[in-house]
Amino acid sequence: MISELPGHVGATVSLKGWLYHWRKGGKIWFLVLRDGTGYLQAVVSKADVPEAVWEAATGATQESTLEVTGLVKADPRSPGGVELGVTDVKILDLCHDWPITPKEHGVDFLMSQRHLWLRSSRQVAVLKVRSEVESAIHDFFYTRDYTRLDSPILTPAACEGTSSLFETQYTEDEKAYLSQSGQLYLEPAAAALGKVYCFGPTFRAEKSKTRRHLREFWMVEPEVAFLEIDGLMDLAEEFVKELTARVLDRRKEDLKRLERDVAKLDPVASKPFPRISYREAVEILQKKGFPVKFGDDLGGDEETALTEGFDTPVMVTRYPSSIKAFYMQPDPQNPDVALCLDMLAPEGYGEIIGGSQRIHDHDLLLSRIQQHNLPLEAFQWYLDVRKYGTFPHSGFGMGLERFVAWMCGVPHLRECIPYPRMLYRIYP
Ligand code: 4AD
Ligand code: MG
Repeated sequence: MISELPGHVGATVSLKGWLYHWRKGGKIWFLVLRDGTGYLQAVVSKADVPEAVWEAATGATQESTLEVTGLVKADPRSPGGVELGVTDVKILDLCHDWPITPKEHGVDFLMSQRHLWLRSSRQVAVLKVRSEVESAIHDFFYTRDYTRLDSPILTPAACEGTSSLFETQYTEDEKAYLSQSGQLYLEPAAAALGKVYCFGPTFRAEKSKTRRHLREFWMVEPEVAFLEIDGLMDLAEEFVKELTARVLDRRKEDLKRLERDVAKLDPVASKPFPRISYREAVEILQKKGFPVKFGDDLGGDEETALTEGFDTPVMVTRYPSSIKAFYMQPDPQNPDVALCLDMLAPEGYGEIIGGSQRIHDHDLLLSRIQQHNLPLEAFQWYLDVRKYGTFPHSGFGMGLERFVAWMCGVPHLRECIPYPRMLYRIYP
């Protein structure tokens, strides 16, 4: 593996990979090989190799599969700090007509070539950051004694509103819906295990085509018994700080390749996040000239305006209950607003976390289910959590792709998931 080469300076090694690009000299060619773990400059000198090897090296095309053999040399100017003095090159497969050439391609073309586009250095860097964040998420919860709980994908009813449900035929006369959130299944589990989380694919039949919406995305959701709104905000802040610190620490090379200005991420790992109420948010927006009034939902432009002037995310709490989900606990000081939180990322990345304290009173929850015209039979089990040993509890959900997009400085979510599912796109 290319990533292991710095430990083998002075040794002769053989490596398999793909030809990424090359620079030709007259009698010396520089081949750049990639194998997914890194990039390696392989130097071929006409004078030092047999004629057949020179021919293979100079005849290889972009993305040809190669096996190269040579001496590992320290070279501080090369990526990874080493280069290879080539003694042999074998073409394992000569690649013809690689479609993704250096010329500017439209995004539509690249998206339909997603299976091949994945090999480009920018896409590789984003996928490495994503994988790092996934591991960091599991580590965060594991070290804090949470139990991972896998929630079902096929569900009998809606969790986050009925307008974005994907419907499937479950049996001949029964419908099922793809999960919009694991939350409802985590709540009973919090009574069993105390601190739980789920992390899996989530489905929203979004009808809008925005850079912040996918129809299939990955959401991580913790749910904690006896945690209330202030503790939930602390948890969300600690979570985002730790994930950011981990990316900054371990994915430096990838962030560099993405030309991410990491100075913009440093404060996230160290400074406290401002916390404001929805009421204050509306006042700030009105001062900035937005025509919003109390009771309106906040869209992407409003979210961006709210984080202007801050170099960390901003947490907005206590939205009107009328614009939030049925399960959110009303504020005892003012029952028209919910004990909820939205975390808004800076630089225009918008909402990365949504969460709340949950209603734990049986009768109140029952009346909310009825007000929202939700099918009571489908929620009987959820009400049971309030019937047998009820307890205050809270949780949140973070969209993985939104977080990764922000870390990488990539504006559109479609590059932050291997195979994006969007309105009008399900290929490849
Ligand atoms: O705010 P949301 O809808 O909250 C819930 O689903 C809660 N049940 C979570 C909980 O409390 N356990 O979604 C949570 C997050 C959003 O903040 C956003 O990051 C992401 O999920 N998200 C999406 N990401 C990509 N594409 C979409 N269509 C998304 N919808 C939500
Ligand atoms: Mg939300």
